[in-house]
This record gives sequence, C-alpha cells and structure tokens, in this order.
Amino acid sequence: MSALDSSILRVFLDAKGKAISGDRLAKEFGISRVAIWARLARLRKEGFRFTASPRKGYALTATPKALHPDLLDAQLRLQRVRLPCTVIGQIDSTNSEAERLLASGQEAPFAIVALRQTAGRGRLGRRWHSEQSGNLYLSIAFRPFIETSRLSPFTLWMGLALCEHIDQKLGIKLGLKWPNDLLNAKGAKVAGMLTEARVDADRVRDLVFGIGLNIESSPAELQGAACSLRSLSRKPIDANEVAAGVLGALETAWEAFEDDSFRKKFLKLFTHYDCLAGQKVKVTLRGKPLHGVAEGIDETGALLLRLSTGRRTEIASGEVTLRTSKVAR
Ligand code: BTN
Repeated sequence: MSALDSSILRVFLDAKGKAISGDRLAKEFGISRVAIWARLARLRKEGFRFTASPRKGYALTATPKALHPDLLDAQLRLQRVRLPCTVIGQIDSTNSEAERLLASGQEAPFAIVALRQTAGRGRLGRRWHSEQSGNLYLSIAFRPFIETSRLSPFTLWMGLALCEHIDQKLGIKLGLKWPNDLLNAKGAKVAGMLTEARVDADRVRDLVFGIGLNIESSPAELQGAACSLRSLSRKPIDANEVAAGVLGALETAWEAFEDDSFRKKFLKLFTHYDCLAGQKVKVTLRGKPLHGVAEGIDETGALLLRLSTGRRTEIASGEVTLRTSKVAR
C-alpha cells in the first residue's frame, strides 16, 4: 500500500469528479508535477481513469471495480472510519491473522481486509470461497472489557447493523437468517459472519468478528445458493466505497454494543430484518433435529422456536434449515 497514492486519491474523491491542477497536487504533496504525472500514469495502469486538460488539470473519471488497497484506504479516510485497517493482498484467513496479531500483543481494535484468502473459514469448520473477486473478506479484532454472558447477541447485532446499512446506503433489502447469514429475498446467501472469542473465566479476553460479503460476485460453485450485491443492485456499485461504508457501520455498531446502548434497537431491528419469522424450520443441535416455527429471538439473541406441542423453546446455538413440509409431530 502507498500512503501517498492513497492521499492523492483521497483528494480526487473529495473533488467529486472536478478537475484539480497538477500544480495544486504538487504543492500539497511536496513533489514535482512530473512526479504527480508519473503517479497518475501508474494508477491508470491499475484501472483508474483521469482526464487531463492543460488549463484545468486532472479529473478522476473512473476507479477500479475490485477492491484496491489505496482506494479503500482513501475511502476509509473520506468516510471518517477511525478503526485502523490493514489491507493485504493475500492471507490464509483474516480471522486467523487477526488472532495471531492479538496473540502477539497488537493494540485493538483493528481491522484486516484481504483481497484473497487461501484458507477462508466458515462456521462449523466449513470453507469460505475467497478468490480475488472484488468481494470483502474482513475481520475486526477487539479486546473488550465485557463479561462472557454479554456476548450472545453480538453476531446478530453486527449482522443487523450491516442489513440496515446496506438497506439505507444501497437500497438493497437483505434479511438476517439466525444466527449468522445475510440472505436476499430468494434465500441466496450474500454474506456470512464468523465470530471467534477467547475467554478468561467470565471475561472476554479477545474477540474476532469476521465477515465475508459478496460485493462483486458469488462463487460459481454456489450458483443459486449465493449471490452478490452487484447482482441485486440496479445502480452501479463501487466496491471500495461499499467496503469502507461497511467498516464504518460495524465500527458504530461495536460502540453501541460495548456501551450496551444497542439494546434500545436490537429486538425492533431484528423483527424488521428477520427472514425466518413464521417459517417452519429444522434446527440442528449437536446432530439432533428439532422442528418448529421460528418466532423471533429473545434479548439474549436466542432463537424462539414454537414446537408442534405448542411449547416455546429458546435455542442459544444451532444450525437452521427452512422446511417446506409440515411441522413434524
Ligand atoms: C459462514 O457463513 O459460515 C461464515 C463465513 C465467514 C467468512 C469470513 S471471510 C473473512 C473472515 N475470515 C475467515 O476466514 N472467515 C471470515
């Protein structure tokens, strides 16, 4: 990543397509106009388009489709995201990297974004397809001062913050499928979340929240079962702007979680984005299936399941599949 390129891009993003003179850029960054020209020539090779007019200067007219470390950094600064974020080309898993950095004593919170993961991890030991495809592979590491018992609604809350952000910013309505998936209206997966925590007695020692968000594309192998924001949007999508916005939304959501103010909104927001409400589901708990109708969650984030006996039970963790057949007796 180049701090100078990112700063130059930030100035262009601020200008919103208006031209900036080479002279102004040269003065602002303390380098020659020729050096500015050379930097822009290099950025052009990476997918940026600048028009150049001898009287007005340079204007940014197009940016790369895929995630670009300097552009993402410029977007993070433009959107005033405070969370320190490292963008890396390739890593095994951003969650694993965040865990290693926490173990080595790195100050938290911090975020890691990778353009590609070689061993992206999903829940229950599954693999997360992580090609270099303009999708977001993000982990945020925290060292929260909270009791373990407070952690249960965390992933749902982060997922709800994401649904709300995507709804408001992109006009795309996703639903949250308890406990960790973001789906479109047809049930195709757009994002998955993986939270991993280490605990000391009754306190959380550290916490890593990972999210894989299909911005540009979805894995070909998962046709029908997965889809991307790009495929759901009528407007063009800027992956770098979206990624920075997501980071900002998660940062804000974390602050509300840490000071407990999220409770004011938690259940209401869940009801709004719950895609299981009233559906017949099968919940698998330690290999055992439980059938019933999903009736939302309680304040701890436990799924409320109405069994065929009429009794309602709370489920703290498990795997949910939608059922088309009738509730089993
Ligand atoms: C799931 O749906 O099972 C959860 C998927 C979580 C994937 C993300 S991608 C970024 C972070 N790093 C990983 O290895 N996994 C999470």
